[in-house]
Amino acid sequence: MPKNIVLVGFMGTGKSVTGKALADQLGYTFVDMDEAIEERTGRKISDIFATEGEAYFRELERELTRELSAQTDLIIATGGGIVLNPANMEDFTRNGMVVCLHTDPDRILQRVAQQQHRPLLEGDTEKAHAIRTLLEKRKPLYDAIPIAIDTTNHAAADTATEILALYRAQAH
Ligand code: S3P
Repeated sequence: MPKNIVLVGFMGTGKSVTGKALADQLGYTFVDMDEAIEERTGRKISDIFATEGEAYFRELERELTRELSAQTDLIIATGGGIVLNPANMEDFTRNGMVVCLHTDPDRILQRVAQQQHRPLLEGDTEKAHAIRTLLEKRKPLYDAIPIAIDTTNHAAADTATEILALYRAQAH
């Protein structure tokens, strides 16, 4: 059985909420990578982006990926940009089942519209445009992940149950 379950996908696809539901169902430890980075740096992601820039954030993300993929029995909610570095995907795949969550772009917009903590969507008067452009650019990276689940009309607990069934099936 793969040791960790790693949730990947664009912002607002439900990685954190699904991850928490999965951790509850499976009794594994839940790790939200953005939160872990904020905890260890004592700073908000948006602040890190604003002062050191995205490249520095990607280094922190890379370092944390190395650490987490050496551990077991974790449910990991990644940040949406984790797919940008193929080494991250290699590490997570080696030691876990990677699942990509997909959601309709309009639904993503609905989910993230009220939230202010996402630096890549900040300062853009046309959030919908920013989302579509970024999604289009990243689509091949998300599409490359063999296990894909659409969360558009699903409650987190149902998505978690679906992922759990796949996880258990991989045990045989
Ligand atoms: C990012 C997504 C965010 C966070 C950072 C960058 C991205 O995480 O890691 O703002 O590049 O897509 P969520 O996907 O949890 O919003």
